[in-house]
Amino acid sequence: MVKTNNISFSYQEFDNSSELGTDDLELVKAAKEAALNAYAPYSKFRVGAALRLESGKIVRGANVENAAFPSGICAERSALSNSVSNHNSDKPVALAVAAMNEEGFTDEPVPPCGNCRQVIAEEESRTGKQIRIILAGKTKVYIIESVSSLLPLQFNNKNLKVILP
Ligand code: THU
Repeated sequence: MVKTNNISFSYQEFDNSSELGTDDLELVKAAKEAALNAYAPYSKFRVGAALRLESGKIVRGANVENAAFPSGICAERSALSNSVSNHNSDKPVALAVAAMNEEGFTDEPVPPCGNCRQVIAEEESRTGKQIRIILAGKTKVYIIESVSSLLPLQFNNKNLKVILP
C-alpha cells in the first residue's frame, strides 16, 4: 500500500515592517545594523542576523566570506555561534534576518540557506524552544513560527538516538 502524505505550513506576511511589534522591529533593526558589518567582498551580498534571547538580550551576526569560498560563514550561523559561545544557557526565541545587495536592503525577504536551517534546527533541539524566524525585506516581512516548517522531515539527534544534555 502506498500512502501520499502532504506537508504544508502557514506563515505570516506583512506588507510593511512598521506593522511588526516593538520587540520584532527592534530585532529587525539589529539585523540591518549587523548586515552593515558583513564582510562580503566576493558576493557583495551582505546579510545580517539578530537573535533575541530569552533574557531579552540581542546577539548579532553577519556573513563573513573567504577567498576559499566554502570557508565563509552565513549571518545566521555567525549569530548562533556567537550566542552559544557567549550566552550558552540563554535560549534564543527569535531570529531576524535582513540582507543587502549593492543597491541597498532587498525588497524581498531572504530565507536562510539549507545549512543554516539545519543549524537553527539543532539549536531548537538543544534548547527545546522554538525560534520565531523574521525575514525582513523592504516591501514584505515573513514570520515563521519554527524552523521545522522550513525543514520538514529533518535529520536530528533523534535519528542518532542521542539524548541531548
Ligand atoms: N548568506 C547568508 O549569510 N545567509 C543566508 O541566509 C543566505 C546567504 C550569505 C552567504 C554568502 O556570504 C552570501 O550570502 C551570498 O551567498
